[in-house]
Amino acid sequence: MRSLAIEDNFAAWRAASLGALGEGLAPEMIEWRVMQHAALPQEQALFDYGEASENAAAPASTVHVSKELAALLQDAALYRAAERWAFLYKVLWRWQHGDRAVASPADADGAQLYRMAKSVRRAKHDMIAYVRFRKQTPAAQTPEYLAWYEPDHDVLEWAAEHFAERMGRTSWMIATPRAAAFWDGQQLHLEQRHALAGEHRSDTPDEAEALWLAYYRSTFNPARLNEAALEQHMPVRFWKGLPEGHLIPAMISDAKSGARRVAQASGVGMLDGKSIPVEAESAQPAREPPSSLDRCRRCDLWRNATQAVGGSGPGDARIMLIGEQPGDQEDLAGLPFVGPAGQLLTLAITRAGLSRDEVYLTNAVKHFKWEPRGKRRLHKTAGQREIEACSVWLERELETVRPAVIVTLGATALTALLHKKASLRDHLGAPFDVAGAWGIATYHPSFALRQQDDKARDTILAAISQALVRARELAAQDRQAGPSGKSN
Ligand code: URA
Repeated sequence: MRSLAIEDNFAAWRAASLGALGEGLAPEMIEWRVMQHAALPQEQALFDYGEASENAAAPASTVHVSKELAALLQDAALYRAAERWAFLYKVLWRWQHGDRAVASPADADGAQLYRMAKSVRRAKHDMIAYVRFRKQTPAAQTPEYLAWYEPDHDVLEWAAEHFAERMGRTSWMIATPRAAAFWDGQQLHLEQRHALAGEHRSDTPDEAEALWLAYYRSTFNPARLNEAALEQHMPVRFWKGLPEGHLIPAMISDAKSGARRVAQASGVGMLDGKSIPVEAESAQPAREPPSSLDRCRRCDLWRNATQAVGGSGPGDARIMLIGEQPGDQEDLAGLPFVGPAGQLLTLAITRAGLSRDEVYLTNAVKHFKWEPRGKRRLHKTAGQREIEACSVWLERELETVRPAVIVTLGATALTALLHKKASLRDHLGAPFDVAGAWGIATYHPSFALRQQDDKARDTILAAISQALVRARELAAQDRQAGPSGKSN
């Protein structure tokens, strides 16, 4: 048994792991201990984030990990748990010995790694969203601004870098129960905290609050307004002490009356020494989403469609399937996936051990786009502008249903989910993280229908079923993970 004492950070673990791998120390031969002030080198290149080689063991002095695994390890390293270093070493050991399954969510260790990284990513998001700075009184003290925050994981350093990039030369400190970050306007300093919290905590409203309110207004995007989602994304436990709480009703009503986003940044612009650039795109007038899908006129597709076709399925479904757009039969019936592609999809769903009734089915675009061919209405692929125009409806469904797993069928659905042109081939087979859920990309059932021979059709159908099996497994895992996985 070997005892390895390291500083409690990723760089120290990385350096120690390099040595341990070099010596061929198996995970069960190491006892990991954490020292607060070890003098270990902070920056030692261990990982080469190149393409993962399919060969088994690489030389121990370098570990070639995939970019995705590197990001997972770095995030999971911030997960607050005593055994994190031992666990991460086990993952690295398995990878180093050619066991690539360890980076897959279908593997027990892989699933644990994904859960840890996911929980940390949520903690990062929360910290950015809910840290509030207050100006020190009396003024002219350093740091000028103070904030107190209690993160769920060790995300202080990451968040401090985020704020350092955005708050210019203003000096500030963020104190947490375990450590504090100081920004002197140029450099970031991190210190383990001992008894700072009480001394520096400030609850006095002051002009810093004006900065925060202006900052908050400037980041509030009325085009995405959804009151229910707003409450959902700013959980009640963060509301206490949030100075902007009283702003929200007024901003909602401004947004409803068509206020321009650019106007919201003016509050920031008027504050001395602060400038927040407004992107050209956000200077456009915000377009109100119509209050109901039936009346949507955000693009021209409604003109030739019988009706808009919204999603269908349980409002709390764990799995959401997104197709491209309603077809001829869906347009007439007002329901998604009731035509030939829908029948094939139902078969794939059943083969995956799921039932159609338990999943939520919808489309990226809600109106049928077609062109006449004799007496027939022929499907036409939706364009980028139509996908974007329709994205408010898909987002609303995502925010309402909050599925644990989102399966995209075909490239249009993938593009809609990711808000950018995306290649299906790049995403096939590997679940990805999207908006706090798992994303899985697979083929559209119409692609199977278009195949000339039965064998090709069966291959595609099998791939769709396989993606749905993966979706079922991930949804089950996520349920077991409880609050430290996807919030449920
Ligand atoms: N194709 C889709 O993408 N969606 C449907 O609802 C039907 C066919």
